[in-house]
Amino acid sequence: MAKRRPMVVGNWKMNTDRASALRLALDVAAGVDSLRAEIDTGVCPPFVYLDAVGRALAAANSALALGAQDMYFEPNGAFTGEISAEMLRDLSCTYVLTGHSERRHVLGESDEMVARKTEAVLDAGLHCILCVGETLEQRKANQTNEVNERRARAALKGVKPSSLSRLTIAYEPVWAIGTGVSATPADAQDAHERIRDLLVRVVGQDAAQSMRILYGGSVKPSNAAELFAQPDVDGGLIGGASLNAEDFLSIIRTAAAS
Ligand code: PGA
Repeated sequence: MAKRRPMVVGNWKMNTDRASALRLALDVAAGVDSLRAEIDTGVCPPFVYLDAVGRALAAANSALALGAQDMYFEPNGAFTGEISAEMLRDLSCTYVLTGHSERRHVLGESDEMVARKTEAVLDAGLHCILCVGETLEQRKANQTNEVNERRARAALKGVKPSSLSRLTIAYEPVWAIGTGVSATPADAQDAHERIRDLLVRVVGQDAAQSMRILYGGSVKPSNAAELFAQPDVDGGLIGGASLNAEDFLSIIRTAAAS
């Protein structure tokens, strides 16, 4: 099996301001350009800074791609406050996250809504990073694999086979996000392996083996190497550590070398 190309994407969440977003993006861009042959990288700034960050990255001819943290599934219309896939394409976005745990658990998004968003991202020709993961309660009740399977199956229902090459799954245990406590490498590998087994059953061996599964949840320079060394961990979705250019670059270099 050909080795999957690693990917590391930063999710800035509701952080930065205009000036710090530009500085952070350009600092990261300067560090990733020598790695463009080895790894896919991206950052997801808040919506309001996408345009400014995208222009700065384009002017720098950077390999660092632009991503959005969310979007709405309708193409346009009376949906106050929402952003469409076409609008994101217009700003040269490459990636869109769907089903991030904060969207599910803080903003109340259902599996059905995440599925509609995932389908819309892919139908627009964008690359979707679909997030799944269990809460602490579900983990304690031994429901990790069941929850991941339910979430992934729901979202995969509307995905056309021709879009699978633009779909990445991010396994992000909810209890590990922003807590400083990451999954152990063995636990991450176990969950990733189970997700890949599910993909084999749903989309077939070839697509399942070429799709990337990222780990997210308190990835730091100090734990990235052991997580990325796992055979089914193909990179990371990074929150807190992506707000510091040096830490984020260290994680990217680790993924590129793994
Ligand atoms: P964290 O966030 O790295 O701060 O834990 C990860 C994420 O929410 O994607």
